[in-house]
Amino acid sequence: MKEKQNNTPVPYQEIANPITDKTVKQNTNQLREKARHGRLDFWSEMSKNISWFEEWNTILDDSKAPFYRWFNDGKLNASFNCVDRHISGWRKNKAAIIFEGDRGDRRVLTYQDLYREVNQFADVLKKLGTKRGDVVTIYMPMLPEAVIAMLACARIGAPHSVVFGGFSPGALKDRIEDSNSKVLITADGGYRKGKVVPLKDNVDKALEGSNCQSIKNVVVVNRTGQDIHMEQDRDLWYSDLINDAALYCEPEVMDAEDPLFILYSSGTTGKPKGILHTTGGYMVGVHTTFKHIFDYQEQDVYWCTADIGWITGHSYIVYGPLANGATTVLFEGTPDFPAQNRFWSIIEKYGVSIFYTAPTAIRMFMRWGEEWLAGHDLSSLRILGSVGEPINPEVWMWYYKYIGGEKCPVMDTWWQTETGMILITPLPGDASFKPGSASRAFPGVDVDVVDEQGKPVKPGEQGYLVVNTPYPAMLRNLYKDPERYLSTYWQQYEGIYLAGDGAKKDEDGSIWCIGRIDDVINVSGHRLGTAEIESALVEHPAVAEAAVIGKKHELKGQAVSAFVTLKESHNGSDELVAELKKLVVSKIGALARPEDIYFTAELPKTRSGKIIRRLLRDIAEGKVIGDTTTLMDPDIINSIKDKYAAKAS
Ligand code: PRX
Repeated sequence: MKEKQNNTPVPYQEIANPITDKTVKQNTNQLREKARHGRLDFWSEMSKNISWFEEWNTILDDSKAPFYRWFNDGKLNASFNCVDRHISGWRKNKAAIIFEGDRGDRRVLTYQDLYREVNQFADVLKKLGTKRGDVVTIYMPMLPEAVIAMLACARIGAPHSVVFGGFSPGALKDRIEDSNSKVLITADGGYRKGKVVPLKDNVDKALEGSNCQSIKNVVVVNRTGQDIHMEQDRDLWYSDLINDAALYCEPEVMDAEDPLFILYSSGTTGKPKGILHTTGGYMVGVHTTFKHIFDYQEQDVYWCTADIGWITGHSYIVYGPLANGATTVLFEGTPDFPAQNRFWSIIEKYGVSIFYTAPTAIRMFMRWGEEWLAGHDLSSLRILGSVGEPINPEVWMWYYKYIGGEKCPVMDTWWQTETGMILITPLPGDASFKPGSASRAFPGVDVDVVDEQGKPVKPGEQGYLVVNTPYPAMLRNLYKDPERYLSTYWQQYEGIYLAGDGAKKDEDGSIWCIGRIDDVINVSGHRLGTAEIESALVEHPAVAEAAVIGKKHELKGQAVSAFVTLKESHNGSDELVAELKKLVVSKIGALARPEDIYFTAELPKTRSGKIIRRLLRDIAEGKVIGDTTTLMDPDIINSIKDKYAAKAS
């Protein structure tokens, strides 16, 4: 271990790799070495590890950059890669999915089980009239049927759009309408902390009246058995349909660049963006990164605690692990039900060897205390992972020490819905790790930190995180909005992808991700656009204007704070605060609920009328106010500050 101080963003101690196995080290070195010989050769070699019906001809077509095309003319099917190719040999009987329900119920699906049900459900979708290219919306709890539905869509070439089960009817409606889906797959409900979550009721609300005219059928998985409304001719039970389905459904031969899925994610302005991923590059990207970042071995039991409604669930619960023939744990519940040791009992029960979670969860475990680990044997763990937000060095250390028992390296993985796969990460065979740094680019990926002009910053200086060259799993477009694709990611620097994150490099070239530099808030690793929450707030008849910021939060990383001006004749009150919070939850979902709402006579604006969120953030975090010279009326700040102080005391 060596101490580092100069020029590093955070004081830290480098941790020597606790893995002594030489092959792990060799694999990491070999992978880095391969990529040094050429990025395209590297990805060409990696592409051979998945199954193609027809080989590709051109690895990268950049003639219409930044609308890149990877593996041109290659033909494949993602579901074939995740199931069919594992059932010809002994893997047929290997557990593909270990499902643990909220209330402790368990189901294990072997690769053969998964193959069979994916085929059946693919046949069901076809019989409902779903054609290649039709978008299917999936709004599900964490159930095996959610994975089956995703793979069934992939099998018939229908891009899926998974909407996180915690989103409100309004958010579901917006996403259905944007994608024009004809079929929606859901469940009667799910369980959370022993109670039933009324998922189907949300669906009924989303489809009310003239909403979502495109939806012709809703397929309902029976999970809780509670009484629900079934709309005649529209709503169908999953189990009835499966009973009548054929056992085999030929996988569609998809072009490498055919869409695999859309996943909506929050942006800086307006509606969520439909991030579009295609088949060949995505599959190569997630297969390769899963295998090498987690040193995946055949006997591993892998558990990623994300929800399938987010990109982490897509890439590292479903496609990455299953393409590798791995056993992936799917957990419906929460870390604190029935008690705060739930995660540790799951790891022990299934002998989990690779564990991938988020800093916000680890911070919560730290707060609950080490005593919850007592009596749990976590010795099966080999590799730990972190994703979703910067991991504070002390949180990294706690994770390493208490969960990993100082024998598992922590992979701090930086990536985004847009990147599809992990881009910045250490590798398990690296000599040492820096707690708090996501380390460096994955082999075959070229990232940097640059200034306003696009020049690489010096060590220790903050800049913008960019990706210099295309890589297979990158997004290809924004669904039906190529203009926004260009303006969001490619406008700032010519031919270079702007990630929207701030970062620093140290003298060794290690990257320290700082967080979003745009109007995106990261609450517990979930991305929310300030504009979305503001639009929800101004829908209230009493609200004139709203500005939303992300305020530092000990557990969640960031929490939503809203500053609201009211229309004349309206006064702020605790009731109004409660109403506004409720409104945001009903428009977006519980994760967007503002932690605090402040009523203010005016909002700080530039002379051109733009709200200065930076100032609001400073006030909320109790920092000294910086430069206010561009303010239209600098006195506003003092009055907001006084209000804030009065409320906070
Ligand atoms: O700010 C970065 C943060 O999460 C953002 C991407 O959010 P989303 O598209 O929802 O995907 C989350 C899961 C991949 C990034 O722009 N982020 C993600 N991972 C890290 C991170 N920030 C710091 N360190 C990370 N390891």
